[in-house]
Amino acid sequence: MKKIALGVCSSISLYKACEIIRLFQEEGFSVRVIMTEKATRFINPYLFTSLTGERTIVHLFDEQQRPIEHISLVDEVSLLLVAPATANIIGKLASGVADDFLSTFYLAVKCPVLIAPAMNEAMFLHPQTQENIRKLKNLGVEFVEPESGYLACGKKGPGRLASPEKIVQKSLRLVRSKEIFKNKVILITAGPTREFLDPVRYLSNPSSGKMGYELAREAYELGAEVILISGPVDLEPPAEVYVEKVITAEEMRQAVLKHYARADVVVMAAAVADFKFSQSLPDKVKKEKIGPSLTIEKTPDILQELGASKSQQLLVGFAAETSQVTDRAFQKMKQKNLDLMVANDVSRPETGFGSDDNEVWLLWPDGRSKKIPRMSKRKISQQIFSEIEVLLNERQRNS
Ligand code: CTP
Repeated sequence: MKKIALGVCSSISLYKACEIIRLFQEEGFSVRVIMTEKATRFINPYLFTSLTGERTIVHLFDEQQRPIEHISLVDEVSLLLVAPATANIIGKLASGVADDFLSTFYLAVKCPVLIAPAMNEAMFLHPQTQENIRKLKNLGVEFVEPESGYLACGKKGPGRLASPEKIVQKSLRLVRSKEIFKNKVILITAGPTREFLDPVRYLSNPSSGKMGYELAREAYELGAEVILISGPVDLEPPAEVYVEKVITAEEMRQAVLKHYARADVVVMAAAVADFKFSQSLPDKVKKEKIGPSLTIEKTPDILQELGASKSQQLLVGFAAETSQVTDRAFQKMKQKNLDLMVANDVSRPETGFGSDDNEVWLLWPDGRSKKIPRMSKRKISQQIFSEIEVLLNERQRNS
């Protein structure tokens, strides 16, 4: 099991460290907490000991501690995350002061270091703090920028600890990045599209976008540059992912084509609406004026167009089926010139549109197939990307 060292400093926001620990544990990581002496004024170290199952470290010299633990722990951890980090610890780390366990440990670690600052906005914006941050960045230390908002001191501005989700996602990118994904551009589409008759009526489907957003998060954590083209969904985009929001199939097509030439991998997870109204009106139409039938026409098939003009891109499609799932998905894969197809049965409520889980078949153009049993969309996205990794490695070997 991989281990994270979590430095916790004296900020009101240290309660968020509990959520950070839980998110790491959900991802299969163990956490060892190192508190500064001043942080223990806010909360008893036993809180973190209970949460992590490992004794929280505070002092350099502690009878209960293994001798020179700051050195032995170095070999056990994959990342040193300091969250929340005060102006004081940032200053100490920037100038090499090593007068407590956390600052001594920083000088001893060889793993990546990530700092999530949290402080009053004037302290954060002070040229000295900014200079310290720049210094650390130049030394290769990574930062999660604080958010703007109401601070504990009553002021408003930058200085609020970033969300635990954002901090953990960036941490995982530092720990999980793979060489093959570095410098790769991965274009992912997600969610439904909407085709409007007038401003209040549209054709669409029940896609929630969860699968596409999980794929974007996975690609980000593996170290890629991610471009997410998203239809209208109610989801928080993954941290540091470039997002373009679109509404209609035509808008999605334009956005995808704009980035296609640069893309190494395209994953079309979006449930693009297949039809649009032949006429889309700017004003709400009175229902009496709408006859018994409306004329519809096909939207552009984006993936088909990408397949027809494919060069270096690895194309991954999704097939939403309700019967003869693999047969139909194989046909679509051939027709759209794909390198990998993910087929799912959307008629099943526990794994269909909007659900948290999925169960899919992975299909390859050479006729191979593999069933991925029901699991969370997060885990499914990891399985899909481990197959994309195999394909990218094959390409690299053959080039
Ligand atoms: N797709 C697309 N543009 C469309 C429709 C679908 O790019 N106008 C993409 C989807 O994002 C998906 C794949 O094509 O990756 C298959 O989509 P699916 O809805 O399963 O199949 P369709 O090609 O639309 O065919 P049908 O609806 O007849 O099953």
